[in-house]
Amino acid sequence: MKKEFKVTPYQVEGNVDYNKLIKEFGVSELDNPTLERIKKHTKELHFLLRRKVFFAHRDLNWLLDEYEKGNKFFLYTGRAPSGNVHIGHIIPWILCKWLQDKFNVEMWFQFPDEEKFLFKQNLTLEETEKYTYENMLDVIALGFNPKKTYFLIDTKHANLMYKEACKIAKKITFSVVKASFGFNDSTNIGSIFYTSMQAVPAILPSVLRKKNIPCLIPMGIDQDPHFRVSRDVIPKLGFYKPSIMHNVFLPPLQGTSGKMSASKEETAIYLVDSPEQVKLKINKYAFSGGQPTIEEHQKKGGNPDIDISYQYLRMLFEPDDNKLKKIHDDYKSGKLLTSELKSILIEKICSFLKEHQRKREQAKKQIDKFIFNESRFHKS
Ligand code: TYM
Repeated sequence: MKKEFKVTPYQVEGNVDYNKLIKEFGVSELDNPTLERIKKHTKELHFLLRRKVFFAHRDLNWLLDEYEKGNKFFLYTGRAPSGNVHIGHIIPWILCKWLQDKFNVEMWFQFPDEEKFLFKQNLTLEETEKYTYENMLDVIALGFNPKKTYFLIDTKHANLMYKEACKIAKKITFSVVKASFGFNDSTNIGSIFYTSMQAVPAILPSVLRKKNIPCLIPMGIDQDPHFRVSRDVIPKLGFYKPSIMHNVFLPPLQGTSGKMSASKEETAIYLVDSPEQVKLKINKYAFSGGQPTIEEHQKKGGNPDIDISYQYLRMLFEPDDNKLKKIHDDYKSGKLLTSELKSILIEKICSFLKEHQRKREQAKKQIDKFIFNESRFHKS
């Protein structure tokens, strides 16, 4: 039977059927009873949770059981530097920042600066180093607490991480990674080893503190194969399996198929884009669910489900449910035109980016407060 979509850490294609993916990956739906359990502690639910942008999880109820017994967790997520950060990348990071504030927990953020070097043909380590710096600014600008946040950069912190990576790597066979990532005999051996580096931050705080600490990883579902492999290994080393929360993909500007991708420039809005670039990209590329003519649109109405501007508002830029509903209903009835909907989105993105870019400048002075070092860690 022909498979109509594909999701791996290195490729997302087609119209992703997230219900099918839940079954295929063996994850659990992030259902209302589980959301209510979170709400009991947070008092409110972030719109990324209310709107099911986070739609699946692994062992989140176990993590909450532990939390309720007084066993606090830490957060872990990451970014493999290969270019500028786009607005899709920040979906898991926005939830991480919210969870850090609500649960008052540590955030461990990995920058595997070797990953995309190993996986991409034309990317040097000097380039990934430059992007590591640039990408760190974006993460800091989202407002993480410097007292409770640790950045791990694989090539810089190799001395700290390599020992643990070896312990993990020893328990993963080539045939397992072959099957999980579609590798073959021509795959370079750095790529084959890589998944063990991505597993390390899930156990590193437990190693350093010499006690078992639960770990929660919010991330896009494309990253799940890494943890499917390492979750089998981690308990064998005596640590808790990390819990995971999965988000759907912010679609590319061109439509609801695939994902916004940093390496495909025309699909993405970057956090360093100017207002002119944002305006041009939305007006030129953002796929519209409207009708071909104004008259027809006013008569038949638009389709917000496939309209990229509406989807970006729903997934990121309009947190107010009432305002979002009005935009949805007005667009569906034909009262709101495509050009007007695009203007609303352009205005929202530009005001977000203006503020973000201001904080990004300030972040340049703060980097040292975020990068892991032993003395900072032992003071905490
Ligand atoms: P990377 O750098 O490709 O992506 C960083 C994070 O962004 C998510 N993501 C998206 N989410 C929504 N919509 C999109 N269009 C979109 N594109 C990317 C990814 O799922 C990811 O969460 N190997 C990782 C780096 C990493 C990591 C981790 C990620 C290291 N440790 C732990 C998550 C958790 C990578 O290449 O991510």
